Amino acid sequence: MGATEPASVEDVATGLERVGYLPGDATALVAFLATKLGKPVLVEGPAGVGKTELAKALARFMERTLIRLQCYEGLDEAKALYEWNYRKQLLRIQAESDDAGWQAVQDDIFGEEFLLQRPLMSAIASAEPVVLLVDEIDKTDQEFEAMLLELLSDFQISVPELGRIEARTRPVVLLTSNNTRELTEALKRRCLYLWLDYPRLEHELAIVRLHTPELDDRVAQKLVAVIHRIRELDLKKPPSIAESIDWARTLVLLGSSDIDRDTFTTTMSVILKHRTDLDTVAARVGVMLDPAADAA
Ligand SMILES: Nc1ncnc2c1ncn2[C@@H]1O[C@H](COP(=O)(O)OP(=O)(O)OP(=O)(O)O)[C@@H](O)[C@H]1O
Ligand SMILES: [Mg+2]
Repeated sequence: MGATEPASVEDVATGLERVGYLPGDATALVAFLATKLGKPVLVEGPAGVGKTELAKALARFMERTLIRLQCYEGLDEAKALYEWNYRKQLLRIQAESDDAGWQAVQDDIFGEEFLLQRPLMSAIASAEPVVLLVDEIDKTDQEFEAMLLELLSDFQISVPELGRIEARTRPVVLLTSNNTRELTEALKRRCLYLWLDYPRLEHELAIVRLHTPELDDRVAQKLVAVIHRIRELDLKKPPSIAESIDWARTLVLLGSSDIDRDTFTTTMSVILKHRTDLDTVAARVGVMLDPAADAA
């Protein structure tokens, strides 16, 4: 099979790092527990702090297939669990000669062959265990959450025409949420919880270095320091790790050897996404990029 089962928290930490994800201590611990306790992990935090990427990295590290269910408003069972393949059923009925009994056809068209598996069913029906990412669960409604709960606690799906379909394998499950609505207590109770926040300075520097090794070291340090200062301001959308990485890539492309006031002014739209934020930061950045402030 070749899949990797971590033996310790340390194992997870080094394994994730090997596949390009630098976990904080809490992240490595919770990810390890998820693989051992078989409980889903609810990952919450602001946008762009590595929630989705954690699931992808875990799949790479464990050498498992990643099955992703992207949630959105109005997502229903037909798109998340399974759906009958109506076209195929119809063809089957038409192909049947007139003298065949209805019962035989009916038994046939509600067999597994006519079932279209959607991500949640695929995840538990897979012969090899997978990593299941239910991304942005807060975008769905509470009914969907309830359905998901049932699946995550029993690891089975009941299809009225077929009966119960038991899980063949247990997936490692990660749910992510941006907190656009409060999730139910019932869901939280069944999950391990991981709050991902903006990383500490050194941690973020390591992440930026990992993504853009070509960036000059001094520039990388200044970039992360500036980002952290910007996050202290009262902004609509503070820059996340995703923006730090984008900014680092931009500076590499432009061949910038320093982040001076000019460089900053021309590239700040890479890290700020609101007009008012641009204004706020522009007004304060002179101080931040002053040589005197730099030395302080
Ligand atoms: N710890 C980390 N190590 C390496 N890369 C990271 C880390 N955290 C975040 N990143 C990078 O930051 C970027 C944003 O991460 P990701 O898309 O997972 O954010 P998110 O939390 O899912 O955001 P959103 O809520 O907007 O979906 C990705 O390019 C990812 O590779
Ligand atoms: Mg995401």
